[in-house]
Amino acid sequence: MKDVLRALPSLAGPFPDFDMTTTPADPIELFGVWLQDAINAGIQEPHTMVLSTVDETGQPDARVLILKNLDARGWHFATTGNGPKGGQIEANPNVSLTFYWSPLGRQVRIRGRAFKADDHERDADFLARSAAAKANVFAGRQSQPLSSRQELAETLAAYERVLVETPDRVSLNWALFIVSPHEVEFWQGAKDRRHHRLLYTRENAIWRRGQLWP
Ligand SMILES: Cc1cc2nc3c(=O)[nH]c(=O)nc-3n(C[C@H](O)[C@H](O)[C@H](O)COP(=O)(O)O)c2cc1C
Repeated sequence: MKDVLRALPSLAGPFPDFDMTTTPADPIELFGVWLQDAINAGIQEPHTMVLSTVDETGQPDARVLILKNLDARGWHFATTGNGPKGGQIEANPNVSLTFYWSPLGRQVRIRGRAFKADDHERDADFLARSAAAKANVFAGRQSQPLSSRQELAETLAAYERVLVETPDRVSLNWALFIVSPHEVEFWQGAKDRRHHRLLYTRENAIWRRGQLWP
């Protein structure tokens, strides 16, 4: 396996240049530009990210999620409130998000605190979901042991039938979180390994910028 992995190209490029003299004062603005670059480059699922959390015993945990929105408050994601990540965030709201857009050689790392959006925003997000996705939330058993695919199919079909009758029903088990950042790092890979790294750090509501060694 070692030889197979060694033979795989990494950071082969070509990649865009990163002009760090023209970066905006706010990292959320720069993130929006990079996300749009990823969309324009035709990258598949450019809105996927890794959410890292810490559990009640201090052990790290991580999983892929979909970015639901980006605004001045931060990065939004949605999930079941009663699953593992919901409980972990409840106990410790310090989280990180990681994006990687391979064809552009770009990574963004965000560290911050997650807080819940208000009920109105949460319900709007829930109602925009497909019936199948809503049924999963009503079942409310994400990450619990599953005894059989049949149990899954029967349970979800029952909730989907209910949803046909009451399509506007919302689940209080849905949670929409917003990650308010205090550190954001933009990493632009380079074939010659002289990667660009720009770190934004928030101090008393002011963003400071500095470069890092690759
Ligand atoms: C591409 C992709 C997108 C996903 N999007 C979400 C999402 O938006 N919300 C969510 O709760 N789980 C999403 N998942 C599933 C999570 O990775 C994870 O399996 C699930 O949320 C349970 O996590 P937990 O046990 O840590 O709470 C996604 C998985 C993948 C691979």
